[in-house]
Amino acid sequence: MISHMSRCGKFITFEGLDGTGKSTQLGKLATALRAAGVKVVETREPGGTPTGEKIRRVLLDSSTDGLSPLTEMALMFASRAQHIAEVIQPALEQGSIVLCDRFTDSTEAYQGSGRRLGSESVLSLHRVLCGDLQPDLTILLDSDAASSLGRARRRNQRASRRRRGGHGDENRFEQETRTFFARVREGYLAIAAREPQRVVLVDASGTPSQTHSQIMQVVSRKLKLPARIS
Ligand code: TYD
Repeated sequence: MISHMSRCGKFITFEGLDGTGKSTQLGKLATALRAAGVKVVETREPGGTPTGEKIRRVLLDSSTDGLSPLTEMALMFASRAQHIAEVIQPALEQGSIVLCDRFTDSTEAYQGSGRRLGSESVLSLHRVLCGDLQPDLTILLDSDAASSLGRARRRNQRASRRRRGGHGDENRFEQETRTFFARVREGYLAIAAREPQRVVLVDASGTPSQTHSQIMQVVSRKLKLPARIS
């Protein structure tokens, strides 16, 4: 078991379907916290370390053929274990606020529910490989699957066109079916219902600045940050 005893920082994760605006909102929160003098580390999964970014390429490139669901889950956790050891745990020990774009809830929603591997296998691996590290707060951005996926697809197509041949893309998950993403969303909502203390559902269907103000309220309430931040 990894020890997570020494932890004076705060760990905040962002979750939601592809294209719900997680990265934009994470960046806005980071700017607001930094302006208030808080030390912030921004990171993402899969990825976040040099090894994790290599694993990310294997996982997200649409030219990766025939990856079994179990291998996919194992690679998500391989990236995560390295990320905790190299980035998250040291930053928490130094008292930073760590903002992470996706964490184990993504594996429970996408592999557990979307790929039907079940929550229990995800939670067991999380205990073994991640020392059961839990975020202090998880912001779950929710909007209907069709509009967020449309957004993600358009963004990834633009990014693919900008890349020169042979550099790969990040489209593998976006090629999944509507019913896959409906299961992923159900998976997320089940986690939110099970852990209401940790997971806060935020409506992501408004403008980015409307969503940002909801997030600021949640963060200052939950983390008891100084009033000047909100
Ligand atoms: P991300 O870069 O956050 O995509 P987006 O910005 O489109 O939301 O994540 C890449 C993909 O990886 C996304 O489709 C979800 C998937 N994923 C999993 O299936 N399981 C996981 O554990 C993680 C971290 C991501």
